[in-house]
Amino acid sequence: MCGIVGYIGTQTASGILLEGLQKLEYRGYDSAGIAAIWEGEIHRVRAKGKLQNLQEKLANWQIPAPIGIGHTRWATHGKPEEHNAHPHTDVSGRIAVVQNGIIENYRELREELKAKGYVFHSETDTEVIPNLIADELQKLKAIDSKVSLLDATRQAVNQLEGAFALAVISADYPDELIAVRQQAPLSIGFGQGEFFCASDTPAMVAHTRTVLTLENGELARLTPTGVDVYNFAGDRLRKYPKTLNWNPILVEKQGFKHFMLKEIYEQPGVVRACLEAYLDSDWTVESTTSPIRLGLADSFYENLEQVQIVACGTSWHAGLVGKHLLEQLADIPTQVHYASEFRYAPTPLMPHTLTIGVTQSGETADTLSALDMEKRRRSEMGSKFAPKLLGITNRLDSTIGHLVDYLIDTHAGIEIGVAATKTFIAQLVAFYCLALDLAYRRKTIPLDRLDQIVTELRQLPAQIESILEVQERYVEQLAHEFVETQDFIFIGRGINFPIALEGALKLKEISYIHAEGYPAGEMKHGPIALLDAKVPVVAIAMPGLVFEKVLSNAQEAKARDARLIGVTPMDDQEAREVFDDLLPVPEVEELLSPLLTVIPLQFLAYHIAARRGLDVDQPRNLAKSVTVE
Ligand code: G6P
Repeated sequence: MCGIVGYIGTQTASGILLEGLQKLEYRGYDSAGIAAIWEGEIHRVRAKGKLQNLQEKLANWQIPAPIGIGHTRWATHGKPEEHNAHPHTDVSGRIAVVQNGIIENYRELREELKAKGYVFHSETDTEVIPNLIADELQKLKAIDSKVSLLDATRQAVNQLEGAFALAVISADYPDELIAVRQQAPLSIGFGQGEFFCASDTPAMVAHTRTVLTLENGELARLTPTGVDVYNFAGDRLRKYPKTLNWNPILVEKQGFKHFMLKEIYEQPGVVRACLEAYLDSDWTVESTTSPIRLGLADSFYENLEQVQIVACGTSWHAGLVGKHLLEQLADIPTQVHYASEFRYAPTPLMPHTLTIGVTQSGETADTLSALDMEKRRRSEMGSKFAPKLLGITNRLDSTIGHLVDYLIDTHAGIEIGVAATKTFIAQLVAFYCLALDLAYRRKTIPLDRLDQIVTELRQLPAQIESILEVQERYVEQLAHEFVETQDFIFIGRGINFPIALEGALKLKEISYIHAEGYPAGEMKHGPIALLDAKVPVVAIAMPGLVFEKVLSNAQEAKARDARLIGVTPMDDQEAREVFDDLLPVPEVEELLSPLLTVIPLQFLAYHIAARRGLDVDQPRNLAKSVTVE
């Protein structure tokens, strides 16, 4: 992951780079640094830890350099120490590079460079790049004294294996900044006499909304007068920037203590926006079209016999709910895979298969690689096996947007908290809409049942609002009691089993408390051995097919002294007989209940982490956009 930024223009670069890095800190926060060119030299400042540490170091930095690059790191190669922080320079200190990605052949390159006398100061893979560029500059200079930084960088990147995005500056080329993209995101921003590059557009929107997203295998030369784009072979390309429709206010905290809390509160609005976008408000059972308008071409619906979903983390949990819906509503056999596993152990090719990639960022390397592999291997087969790829994402402008044939926009708006909340609920709504649309077209459920589900879906935003209103204070108090707890178990069944997994993941991610999610019926096959009075069990008990079963499983836990917390609409008296603590949710059709049951679990994780005084929005070791495999 990591975030990179670059600036060239007439203003002082350092402030602009720092502002940009603030917007990219969600990508990694192990260390940060900037480098700028002033009076023929590269000036560099780096700091271990959060960006704040770099800011403090830069407080008295008085270098008005109009060109520079910056980096916020998520450590892959080398510990999060200052000497491993980017920018990295070549041995002479004349070239500086920031990188997002992994250079897989860095060991061989480093050995070759060492043999030539280059000295290395870090354990990173990145440090080979400035040295390789220096080496290429030297070689090219021997042939032609007018060698450019672009040519040397191009020669260097052609030797790199892996996925990477780079920004490069050199004290010998003070009017050039080179930006490179190969399987890791990078965009160029166009201002008035100033140009930017960044891993993600929020880092630039305060200055420009005119943006060009580089494609894989492209590099750009930014100068104070313009931008030229080339491919790795050196051919100049014609590229046109686009204007972003973006409101910077959306990425502020707006009075909330943390972005995560703000994003939890945004969920009713997100669900509303998604439903407004996709539900046909004029639809009745007499209508002759689908109640869902996803805007997908007719070809999407042709020859669809099965579905495979690839995703990571919270998006994988959304995929599990999606499987339940696609199978139960639309009668389509569906498999869900961890993208990181699927890529190296793909399922045998089956005909007429839809592959869905679910990713809030649209940049997760494992998910993109799995989709790309599926596209390639299917393209080599006959038409029965032709690739059909759908992306469910929050970022249409991201890499997944270029990779797939069909897209569903989840309309969640930008999410800053590393632990996904509103993007998850939006992914769920996308799956409800997809499954209902397919159910209508495949005639797998009666129209009046479809009508009933759509009607209940429309009530969900208000029901989520009621949970938020009722529970905030109560969960905050309850959380207090779990500040010292070391283990948590979450149980659910059927469509709420993925929500148990998601509740456990949220708690792990931000509170660092060990938590496991289980299908409630599996408890007795092992996990029940973990239970005693010190291990609270959160049970999702929603009326429906598996209600009584979950209650029995909860009782089994209680009999082992576990403190039982119920997420349930049961009336108070009845619920008190079973549960020690209640996180009440409105009664709703079981099929729709994940959209409600996940809310108290997000709240619980948030308040426990906040009580423990932890950095909720930037939990240790994590990053929001995982662009390395
Ligand atoms: C990271 C984030 C998670 C997210 C996962 C998948 O691990 O911290 O919150 O669920 O990546 O991300 P994606 O962007 O593909 O949904």
